[in-house]
Amino acid sequence: MLSAPAQAAVTARAPAKVNLLLEVGPLREDGYHDLLTVFQALDLAEDVTAHPAEGFSVEVEGAQGVDVAGVPLDGRNLALRAALLLAERTGVRTGAHLRVRKGVPVAGGMAGGSADAAAALVACDALWGTHLGLPALGELAAELGADVPFCLHGRTAVGTGRGDRLVPVLTTAAFHWVLVPAGGGLSTPAVFAECDRLRAASGRPAPAADAGERLRAVEAALRAGDPHLLGAALANDLQEAACSLVPELAGTLAAGAAAGALAGLVSGSGPTVALLAGSAPHARRLAAALRPALGERVRTATGPVPGARVLEAVRAG
Ligand code: C5P
Repeated sequence: MLSAPAQAAVTARAPAKVNLLLEVGPLREDGYHDLLTVFQALDLAEDVTAHPAEGFSVEVEGAQGVDVAGVPLDGRNLALRAALLLAERTGVRTGAHLRVRKGVPVAGGMAGGSADAAAALVACDALWGTHLGLPALGELAAELGADVPFCLHGRTAVGTGRGDRLVPVLTTAAFHWVLVPAGGGLSTPAVFAECDRLRAASGRPAPAADAGERLRAVEAALRAGDPHLLGAALANDLQEAACSLVPELAGTLAAGAAAGALAGLVSGSGPTVALLAGSAPHARRLAAALRPALGERVRTATGPVPGARVLEAVRAG
C-alpha cells in the first residue's frame, strides 16, 4: 500500500478540443468507427480538484454560463470513472472527492467529459503520489474513452484508430475561433448512428479513413500558420448527420459565413459550431456581430493549448 497522501488537494486543468478534420470510416465490430482526425486543444477548460476522502464522489459546477444539469453524478461520470480506474490499477486504498468546474459546453462535441477524465487522472495521480507518467496515464485514458488521450496530450495532433492513437502535428501559429454552443446537447453514439443511416440510405459506402489529400491540406495549413488555408481545409464527415438531427445548425453555419467567418464547421459530433477567424480582433468582431441573433452563448477561443496539467497542489498540514 502507498503512503498517506502528502497533498490536501490538487487541481488539474484539461482542454476542450475542436476537430479540424474528422474522417469517419466504416462501423467496426466493437461498435466504434475507424477515424482519421486532427484535434486542436482550445483554451476552454475543465478544472478538477481532487480532495482526499474515504470513498469516491463527485460534484459539478458550471463556469461561464455552462449548464451542468445533464451531467451524471453516479458511476457514469467520467471523472469519477477515471479516479476509480487509477486507484484500481495502482492499488491505492484511499479515495477522492472530485470537484469539477466545467467551462466546456456539456454534450457539445468538444470533449468536455473527456477533459474531466483527463484532468481527474492527472489530479489523482498527483494527490496520491502514484506518479504514473504520461505513457501509463495515456493507456488508462484510452480505456475511458476515445477522446480522453487527446485531452491528456493537448496541442494539435492527428488521431487514428478510434481517435485515440496520437501523433503530434507541427503548428506555427495560434488560431482564433468563435464557438456557438447549441441550446441542447447531442449524444455522440446517436450522431455516429445517423451518419451510418444517411450513408446506407444514399447507397454511399463508408470511405476509408486514411491519411490522404484532406489530411495533407490541414497539415500544410498548420505548418504555414495560415488561417485562410486552414479554413479551406476544414472538414467533418459527421456534420451532415449532426445537421440532420439538429436542423438549426445549418442556420448557425450560414450566419457565421454571412458575418465574415473564414470558415465554419460542426465541432466533432456537435452540436457546437466552430467558426474560424483570421486573428484575435477578427474573432472578437465576429462574436460581437453574432451575439444579437445567437445570444450570449457565443464565445471566442484560441488554440492550440497544452494538455492536462496540475494547476495547484495544496500541501496537507
Ligand atoms: O469513446 P467514447 O465513449 O467517447 O465514444 C462514445 C461513442 O461514440 C461510442 O460508444 C461510439 O458509439 C461512438 N464512437 C464511434 N467511433 C469512434 C468514437 C466514438 O462510433 N471512433
